[in-house]
Amino acid sequence: MNRVLIIVAGLLLPTMGWAAGDAHTFPDDKIEIDWSDKAAMQRGARTFVNYCLSCHAASYSRFNRVGADLGIPDDMVRENLIFTTDINGEKTKVGELMKTTMTPEYAEQAFGTVPPDLSLIARSRGVNWLYNYLRGFYIDDTRVGLGVNNGVFKNVGMPHVLAELQGLQQPKYKTVTDSHGNESEVIVDFEIIKPGLMTESEYDQTIHDLVAFLDYLAEPYKQTRKNVGTGVLIFLFVFLILAYFLKKEYWKDVH
Ligand code: HEC
Repeated sequence: MNRVLIIVAGLLLPTMGWAAGDAHTFPDDKIEIDWSDKAAMQRGARTFVNYCLSCHAASYSRFNRVGADLGIPDDMVRENLIFTTDINGEKTKVGELMKTTMTPEYAEQAFGTVPPDLSLIARSRGVNWLYNYLRGFYIDDTRVGLGVNNGVFKNVGMPHVLAELQGLQQPKYKTVTDSHGNESEVIVDFEIIKPGLMTESEYDQTIHDLVAFLDYLAEPYKQTRKNVGTGVLIFLFVFLILAYFLKKEYWKDVH
């Protein structure tokens, strides 16, 4: 009996730790990514090249590959997704990798850390975390230079680069007491105090689409893999029926 209890406790412990760690992050929303919604990913790609690629690379992907996967012709890619130039000042070609123009040395100086490559970020952080992170910047005057903090990434070194769209928000706190009687302040809500160009729901949609794009970037084969998987299952099912009738046929004279 004791052993069973220990095993059950062992199984539950990690989930409890996770839940406790999560309680102090806000926002804590969940999203679903629709992998067939290419239009959302196209919009996300556009936001990405406009607002993220200046600091973060996505250097496992090529512009034209993204275009082909998302149904954007090369000339549209050239016009709408490429704003960078190479060392000779010529516009980056569609066949090139999605690199940033910022050097690591400059980034280190400006932000104290080099912005990570975002190719695989949707896999390492998960889409929900990204959705909350990009909606979680709030005013914090104690952060010298940046002026913002983040509800899910405390003391983050990234500026709120989407502030012109979202506006600036202020947190609302609640005091919570943990099981040891320690009190702490946690963020339970945000309130926009300086509106941006978008309404809250427009901004949420923009971030949803951006995260959909990042999810695609991290696993460009996911859609193909799913289709292949469905095909294989259908094949197995048809094969099962055939095998069943074959068996009947073979055994029908045996008594
Ligand atoms: C002005 C430069 C800059 C821009 C533009 C920028 N970021 Fe960042 N970003 C940073 C820096 C610097 C960090 C590292 C923060 C740290 O580790 O404290 C970071 C960190 C991140 C992280 C966390 C990575 C991790 O897991 O540690 C994500 C996700 C992210 N950025 C996404 C984005 C997205 C999406 C955009 C476009 C909307 C964007 N960033 C635009 C500078 C930038």
